[in-house]
Amino acid sequence: MDSYEWNKIIGWVLAAAIAVLGLSILTGFVYSPGHSETKGYIVEGVEVEADAGGAGAEAAQPIAAFLATANPAKGEAQFKKCAACHTITKGGATGQGPNLYGILGAKVAHIASFAYSDAVKGHGGNWGWDELSHWIESPRKYIPGNKMSFAGISKPQDRADLLAYLNSQSDSPLPLPAVPAVAEAPAAEAPADAAASDAAPAAGEQAAAPAEAPAEAATH
Ligand code: HEC
Repeated sequence: MDSYEWNKIIGWVLAAAIAVLGLSILTGFVYSPGHSETKGYIVEGVEVEADAGGAGAEAAQPIAAFLATANPAKGEAQFKKCAACHTITKGGATGQGPNLYGILGAKVAHIASFAYSDAVKGHGGNWGWDELSHWIESPRKYIPGNKMSFAGISKPQDRADLLAYLNSQSDSPLPLPAVPAVAEAPAAEAPADAAASDAAPAAGEQAAAPAEAPAEAATH
């Protein structure tokens, strides 16, 4: 075989390898095999916005985990944010919002004489730990169209403290919810990071593996 032939073969092998590599990168990008949609937006080398990551980790962590260490005394201090509109004493007056004595476990729109918005009145169900936690986190998101002008409390531990306090102001406090067997909040962020960095080597392997086989085939 002369050098021209060799050049041709090497040229074909290179071209095939590049084509396969390009194709596998392209398909890997489009199909992202084996990765769930939650990782879809994680771009290699780009930090997910701190706020979004934190919220995700917290959302993954049920409020029960924070209730286990909740402090009702701190919750009483949190309640100052609510006191402008709500009383919490038994039989307390209606303010801009309804009295909240015994709210844990009560029906949504639990005071018959209060002029609730249609959104809250029509919501149904009871104020369990999770429901009340979501409501306090973001009333606007939890029951769109409600008329409680309160932005929300984003820190789960603050909400848990407040919930513990609300629960203490009741004839029949609810038992604390069982704590699910999950790692603590900081650990919850770790798998997300690990998953992001996992994705990169996986994509690299994919790109490398198929490139070899057709390159071999081209030499036959
Ligand atoms: C600016 C006034 C205001 C503040 C501050 C406020 N609320 Fe309200 N709250 C309302 C109003 C008004 C409603 C009735 C909402 C509706 O009908 O759409 C309401 C409704 C509620 C309900 C539903 C009661 C029921 O009977 O179903 C709960 C629970 C509640 N608030 C808890 C809180 C807590 C806890 C805080 C503090 C973290 C708070 N609110 C802060 C005005 C307020």
